[in-house]
This record gives sequence, structure tokens and C-alpha cells, in this order.
Amino acid sequence: QAHPTPGAGLLAGKVVLVVGGSTGIGADSVRVFAEEGASVMVAARSRDTLAALTEELTAAGHDVAYSAGDVSVGADVARFVDDTLARFGRLDGAFNNAGINQYGPLDEVSEEDFDRIMAVNVKGTWLCLREEIRAMREKGGSIVNTSSVGGFRGNTGLGAYQATKHAVIGFTRTAAHDNGPFGIRVNVVAPGPTETPMFVQWRHDDPAAVERRIASVPLRKAGTTTEVANAAAWLLSDRASQVNGVVLPVDGGYSA
Ligand code: NAI
Repeated sequence: QAHPTPGAGLLAGKVVLVVGGSTGIGADSVRVFAEEGASVMVAARSRDTLAALTEELTAAGHDVAYSAGDVSVGADVARFVDDTLARFGRLDGAFNNAGINQYGPLDEVSEEDFDRIMAVNVKGTWLCLREEIRAMREKGGSIVNTSSVGGFRGNTGLGAYQATKHAVIGFTRTAAHDNGPFGIRVNVVAPGPTETPMFVQWRHDDPAAVERRIASVPLRKAGTTTEVANAAAWLLSDRASQVNGVVLPVDGGYSA
């Protein structure tokens, strides 16, 4: 069904997996996708946080379940997908949003920190794509990966983070070519500065730096987690049925 009924919810009847859904953009996405009619499997490491989020949304009448594990471990990611299939019977959409940050210039990054960010942001995205594509091969689906405006430009002092977010775009473009013939679309949301707990803390610690950053955003504000979630919801939905392999900045024009 390429044109969902208006008013029925953008994701009505769909089963969506959100990896990296315990906090920030991911947790708000679970809420938005559920409100748009999806059944949602939410995955991240913290079982307690996932249980609380699932309980809250279930109490609000939504169809949500969770699967705890580490995105950098192949067996855990396979379980995210297996649990989705066991609980909901299929997989129509996936939002691969788990990611960690890194601060400091490259010459100050430790080998251990480099390996960790590569394991979560790069290997983790690949593991998600591998398992989700296998699950979607027969019936098609839509996958959205979270990159960043740092995925297509440089910035100061972000260690290997920018490289990992460039890699997410690389995977997405290749996966779009390989899997389009199976009816699987693969796209990217690229948030600019977004009001997550980390950002709120940054504003508290260094308000002048936050003001400078926001002054370079044409819309003169940071994005909200809901604004990123709405963009991901649209890409996951059938409204975006001819959209494949794109990078959608959600950044108020910051990268324009
Ligand atoms: P966050 O730290 O609140 O969320 C990250 C999510 O990934 C959490 O659910 C966390 O539990 C999960 N996660 C981290 N490591 C994991 C692991 N090893 N295994 C499983 N789950 C893991 O941060 P935020 O800001 O919501 O970030 C979400 C995504 O958005 C990240 O990929 C980040 O790089 C990206 N992003 C954020 C921006 C911002 O300004 N907040 C800007 C551009 C991109």
C-alpha cells in the first residue's frame, strides 16, 4: 500500500525496530512511531530503562516491547531482530540510531576510544543492516540510519566521530543499491544540533558556546528529538515509497 489512509497514522500496522531507543532521539522516536500506529520493538543496553519506557507506552495503549543488548555484538543484534519476529511476526521498518560521541582532536584520541566508537557507530550499524536486510528480503521494508551533519562535513575536535558518521552514509548508499531490487529502502537522517540531555548539559556548562552554535543555524534554534523522530517516521512510512539512498538533514539549514 503506497498511499496510507490519511488520519490512520503514518506507520499504521507496521512493525518497527528502534536500535538505540532508550534515551534521547531514539526514545522519542519510539513514542512518535507508536503514536503513528506502529508496533515497536525497542533495543539498547539498559534493561531497566527499556522496561520503564515499554511500561509507560504500554500503559498509554501502545504496542511496545523491548530487547536488551549491545549493538556492537553480532549475537545481540541478531536477537533484536529474532525477538521482533517472535513478538510481532515480521519486520517492516528499522531505525538504527545507537551511537556514541567522542571529543578531542585526532592526535589525542586513544586507541581504546577509537576502537570503541568504531565498534558502536560503524560495526553496530553494519550488524543492524545485515540482520534487518535478511529479515526483510522476502517482503521488503524501510531502514533509516542515524548519521549527523558531521557525516558530510568536518568540525572541530570531534575525534573519530565524523569518520564514523561518514561511514553510516557509505553503508546506506551501498545498501540502497543492493537492496532496492528486494523492495527495501535504506535512508539516513542527519541531525544537526539537537536538544538531547547531552545538549541541555552543554547549554548549562557553556551557554556562550551553545549560543554561537545556534547563531549559525538559519532557523536560529536547535532541533528537538521529536523533529528528528518525525523525519525518521516519514522515511519509514509508505509516503516515502520512492525515496531511497538519501541523506535527509534535520538541522534547521545548518549544513545548507
Ligand atoms: P543518546 O546518548 O541519548 O542516545 C544514544 C542511544 O544509543 C541510547 O539509546 C543508547 O543507549 C544507545 N547506545 C549507545 N551505545 C550503545 C551500544 N553499545 N549498544 C546499544 N545501544 C547503545 O544520544 P542522542 O543524542 O539521542 O543520539 C542518538 C543518535 O543521534 C546518535 O547516533 C548520535 O550520534 C546522533 N546525533 C545526535 C545529535 C545531537 O545533537 N544530539 C546530532 C547528530 C547526530
